[in-house]
Amino acid sequence: MVKVTFVGHACFLLDNGAQKILIDPFITGNPVAKISEAQKKIDFILISHGHGDHLGDAIGLAKKSDAMIISNYEIATYCGEQGVQKTHPLHIGGGHDFPFGSLKLTIAHHGSTLGNSNLYGGEPAGFIIRTGGKVIYHAGDTGLFLDMKLIGELDKIDLALLPIGGNFTMDISDAVKAVEFLSPRKAIPMHYNTFDLIACNPVKFVNRIKPLGAEGIVLKPGESYDLS
Ligand code: NI
Ligand code: MN
Repeated sequence: MVKVTFVGHACFLLDNGAQKILIDPFITGNPVAKISEAQKKIDFILISHGHGDHLGDAIGLAKKSDAMIISNYEIATYCGEQGVQKTHPLHIGGGHDFPFGSLKLTIAHHGSTLGNSNLYGGEPAGFIIRTGGKVIYHAGDTGLFLDMKLIGELDKIDLALLPIGGNFTMDISDAVKAVEFLSPRKAIPMHYNTFDLIACNPVKFVNRIKPLGAEGIVLKPGESYDLS
């Protein structure tokens, strides 16, 4: 079992009962983020790409919790230079075993600069996370791509975390197509309603993936879902 908490935007906290993994911790300056001080005590931080709404509070939180940052080579190296003690670099198509299970980086079609700078952050990524006996796909920020079919073929995905807000990423229609390609058991929408520019109704996404055999779950920031 994995407890999946939606912090807001693209930030999720995964708790397998032994380790806590925080993904894309955009908390400061995030108008919707909900996270308690206790939930900030984590073991691992995954960063999909360098944009400020994903790198977010990662460096400060890693130092506070002595957590390991896992990201692409460029971002992991940058975090190390900023004084984070434990970092692990991966890159697209590569994976590694960690105490929580394993992590593999997937492609994502997007950009990546480091925080609010114009420094190159390497290729943006998505994640295949194996933990607590489940396979979770976090797409990162991405447009729709046909290789999602391959991602769904290589792994039986229990839960897909997919952006639906449009403008910077897939909108609802493209995210529905992504569900068709990935064939996950369940999907939770993300990267919407944080700002007006990415406003949409997630219930439309849930209704449209039902005929595809996928259960959609809408979480409000701060809400959790027990993935079993
Ligand atoms: Ni981005
Ligand atoms: Mn983003």
